[in-house]
Amino acid sequence: MLSNDLRLALDAVAFAREALGFEPDPWQANVLRWNGKRLLLNCCRQSGKSSTAAVLALHRALYHPGSLILVVSPSLRQSGELFRKVTDFLSNIKLEQQPLLKEDNRLSLTLDNNSRIVSLPSTETTVRGFSGASLIIEDEASRVPDELYYAVRPMLAVSGGRLILMSTPFGKRGHFFHEFVEGGEGWERISIPASECPRISQDFLKEEQATMPDFFFRAEYLCEFTETVDQVFSYEQVQGALSDDIEPLQF
Ligand SMILES: Nc1ncnc2c1ncn2[C@@H]1O[C@H](COP(=O)(O)OP(=O)(O)OP(=O)(O)O)[C@@H](O)[C@H]1O
Ligand SMILES: [Mg+2]
Repeated sequence: MLSNDLRLALDAVAFAREALGFEPDPWQANVLRWNGKRLLLNCCRQSGKSSTAAVLALHRALYHPGSLILVVSPSLRQSGELFRKVTDFLSNIKLEQQPLLKEDNRLSLTLDNNSRIVSLPSTETTVRGFSGASLIIEDEASRVPDELYYAVRPMLAVSGGRLILMSTPFGKRGHFFHEFVEGGEGWERISIPASECPRISQDFLKEEQATMPDFFFRAEYLCEFTETVDQVFSYEQVQGALSDDIEPLQF
């Protein structure tokens, strides 16, 4: 029979339930068990994205000694909140061998197995110092600037690490949208509308639908990439106006 620790190392869902007391929703369980390299999660508000990111980061850190895990968020406030989810889980963790913290800063921690979890806000200059990340998670990726995304990706080059973008959509723009619609075969794509979140009731959704502009409701709860409110031309109009037959002007 497998030792308990080995079982939890091999199964992040068992780890979430037994070590963290976190019962994942079905979609969260699929994400925790996913073992590919590139994942796009298009999820509605409050579906549990940040919680899932925190579980994934901790599981990787505990069972792959020496890992660097980067969790990127659009703002300092959001990276602080996400990091708090990680530290809350860690301070209540139940394992045969309790992990020890070597270092605990406001937005990063190092375990005694030399794994680090770093929660980064979107200030591109803070990102360039890291290398060899084995897992990068972008939370609210639709609001993370494209420059940051392109600064972060090369960190996976040598490590062969995994990249997960999780977000509620925010218009037909930016890297999250582009990877989702035209990012090619390398990505696995999962959409989680509010109907798949057991904590969001039909009554609440009806109230939101009656209150919110259609544009926001379809983005926030139905996970649709709607046009942005201030957009003059639609995405389809812009795509339709492009032609490979016309040489770009050179200045
Ligand atoms: N599997 C779960 N079981 C019980 N509660 C959960 C689960 N997943 C998430 N939650 C709770 O749902 C709430 C929202 O979770 P979380 O912050 O992870 O979602 P989110 O998708 O990141 O939200 P937002 O869109 O606001 O960023 C939190 O109170 C969290 O504790
Ligand atoms: Mg969140």
